[in-house]
Amino acid sequence: MHLLIPAAGVGKRMGADGNKLLLTLLDLPILGWTLKAAVDASSIEWIGIICQAIDEPVFQDIVAQLNIQKPIVFVRGGDTRQASVCNGLAALPAHAKHVLIHDGARCLATPSLFDRCSNAFATCQGFIAAIPVKDTIKQVDNQGIIAATPDRDELWAAQTPQGFDVELLKDAHQKGKTQDWSVTDDAALFEKCKLPVHIVEGEETNLKVTTPVDLAIAEFILRKRF
Ligand code: CTP
Ligand code: MG
Repeated sequence: MHLLIPAAGVGKRMGADGNKLLLTLLDLPILGWTLKAAVDASSIEWIGIICQAIDEPVFQDIVAQLNIQKPIVFVRGGDTRQASVCNGLAALPAHAKHVLIHDGARCLATPSLFDRCSNAFATCQGFIAAIPVKDTIKQVDNQGIIAATPDRDELWAAQTPQGFDVELLKDAHQKGKTQDWSVTDDAALFEKCKLPVHIVEGEETNLKVTTPVDLAIAEFILRKRF
């Protein structure tokens, strides 16, 4: 299985001085934890790390430190996650029929989640890891007034890995460019193309490190594991 790791963000919500993926949890940078899990997943055979030029040397150091035995390729990131993934798709080897996309910032995903996702291609061409939401979610208008309360039983929190047939996802990205669609995950492009996206059971601990409190939570979870 081919895996793309979008890692080209700036981490604005983290408010750190530089890419949040370089912040360390238990002495290993966030990107290192993400890579370790992917490398330990037996189904993953190739990894593309999508990053900005400024981060590549230090990302190379992280890869070297982990002594990874699987092929690793660095791909230049874009201005948005969508543009970054698009560059990643273009860098896939020609024989890659399926691809998993996993946010560098989801550093707590386990190897078994990667393998469960790889296996999902046996039954579908588009899927995301997700979990049922725990909170009641409100839709709020621009006056700060609640407009709707969607039925919680129908709401799922989207995670990564997300997996897609490569040709279908490339076509969806192309269509997204011509139609000027702006999305925060690849599933949304598939949905807009009216292609089915299935759910694979995600992990409650598979949080996306986004704001400073997530660092403390992620470190707590890692400490309990090791
Ligand atoms: N990402 C990317 N290219 C971008 C923007 C984001 O590859 N132009 C990656 C991030 O590095 C991250 C993942 O997409 O691993 C999910 O994005 P997010 O958590 O939003 O990270 P940032 O965009 O870095 O954070 P923020 O939105 O707070 O600036
Ligand atoms: Mg972002």
